Amino acid sequence: MEYLTFALAKGRLAEKAMEALGKTGIHCEEMKEDSRKLIFVNEDIKCRFFLAKAQDVPTYVEHGAADIGIVGLDTLLEENRNLYQVLDLGFGKCRFAVAGKPEAREILDKQDLRVATKYLNIAKDFYYNKKHQTVELIKLNGSVELAPVVGLSDVILDIVETGSTLKANGLEVLEEVCPLSARLAVNRVSMKLKHDRITEIIKGLKELELK
Ligand code: PRP
Repeated sequence: MEYLTFALAKGRLAEKAMEALGKTGIHCEEMKEDSRKLIFVNEDIKCRFFLAKAQDVPTYVEHGAADIGIVGLDTLLEENRNLYQVLDLGFGKCRFAVAGKPEAREILDKQDLRVATKYLNIAKDFYYNKKHQTVELIKLNGSVELAPVVGLSDVILDIVETGSTLKANGLEVLEEVCPLSARLAVNRVSMKLKHDRITEIIKGLKELELK
């Protein structure tokens, strides 16, 4: 039997993903050990698992280096890769929102609003296609909440989970963009060639969701 390869977004999601897969009988003891290894195998069930940066998971899946990816909808939307997005896994719930200092509420619709974000494609879609507003997009790579605090931008478009990062920096949600959660993505060719195994996994995960 060929290996079935899973790409997991490193961090919070990977743990929850392995927990969910574990409940369907797909597990990997080796992964629980603390190590610098990047790829793990369970020979008994012919599965391989690797951890990648979230933004790279859709790339591995699109190219078939992974049959299945587990990653946030935020990343799938931003990367817009050619793959099947088959299932909302129901965990990793958070949302995209526009946030800033409370006084920025007054200027949300102004032309040339300065928006800092890690998610340029999502921001373009939100402002240009949905709001029909011209804005200045400023790309950052992390700790985006800093931008309005130090005057780099008027607002940010970012992920909000608990809201504690915003609160700790005197910022608040000003506009909702969309809800987010973890998704199961499948390579288009794998879906045909490994159809039975993949369908079985999807079925198992769907049953979990109903509980
Ligand atoms: C995400 C996001 C926010 C924070 C939101 O950042 O970009 O900064 O989590 O979570 P909260 O609402 O529960 O406070 P992440 O931890 O991925 O780090 P980074 O953006 O700094 O890379």
